[in-house]
Amino acid sequence: MNTTVRILAPAKLNLHLDVFPLRNDGFHGLRSLFVIVPLYDTILIEPKSDEKFKIEGFEGIPMEQNLIWKAYSAYCSRLGEDIPIQVRVQKEIPVMAGLGGGSSDAAAMLKALQFIRRREGKGTLERKEMASIALGLGSDVPFFLGSAAAYAEGRGEKLSALEARDDLYAVIVKPEFDVSTGDAFRMLDERGAVSPLHLSKAEIIARYRTKKPAEWEYYNSFTTVLCEKYPNLSRLISELKASGAEYSNLSGSGSALFGIYTDAKQAEKAFFRLKKFVKKAWKVKMLAYPPEAVYN
Ligand code: C5P
Repeated sequence: MNTTVRILAPAKLNLHLDVFPLRNDGFHGLRSLFVIVPLYDTILIEPKSDEKFKIEGFEGIPMEQNLIWKAYSAYCSRLGEDIPIQVRVQKEIPVMAGLGGGSSDAAAMLKALQFIRRREGKGTLERKEMASIALGLGSDVPFFLGSAAAYAEGRGEKLSALEARDDLYAVIVKPEFDVSTGDAFRMLDERGAVSPLHLSKAEIIARYRTKKPAEWEYYNSFTTVLCEKYPNLSRLISELKASGAEYSNLSGSGSALFGIYTDAKQAEKAFFRLKKFVKKAWKVKMLAYPPEAVYN
């Protein structure tokens, strides 16, 4: 490799997230509909012959906790070879937001390593090995290796790729406070807040494919519990609805929220309205395809 490789790591939204009771392995089963959105972290990878691995952009976080490093290290150990590189990360996706930033960074790193190895004519990992490394890194990581939209079951790793709708817009808002995924799941368990009724896989997919967002009637198992704890979330959901969102909810276990719009102008107006309430807000158009690694 003689030049910089760049890969964009997109955020995700859970348009639907139905959490089932805690399993024996410490995880919850779920049914979810994931889509990626063009709110990106940027990962730049340069060849580095003198040092094994170096990462910039995460000052203050120990290397062992960094998902990009974990992805790199798992990839190299499965391959049985070191890849001498230096990585720079420009973070844009807020953390502890339910937007999958860390998971997406990890998946992007794995994709970039495959790209580099392929371009150098060297051995790569099989799809199955990539999926297994991804799940070892986190429940959301396998999704980011695949399509721009997917139905997910299991911990989030049993994926059915869907043709992504790119006719939709989203406004994403991140309140000031953060939510830890583990804590949010514990809150659900404590309250016994798992829904007794569940949408079926077929219904979840059919609504995404054929219905207008106003008719989706999706839900997120975390919303009620988190809105009780953080009343500001309810206020922001109301603001998203008042701004013309055809569907709005929490993403993942929060604290980020989103509104979905079919009209670009409406989404833009909504963005400016929501900006009055939160510092961090984005307006995006949905993507048909996930980003791939490129030479910079
Ligand atoms: O897999 P990940 O590391 O992202 O999960 C963080 C935490 O969230 C887990 O330790 C677990 O407590 C909880 N979790 C869960 N069920 C899932 C995904 C995550 O209980 N399907």
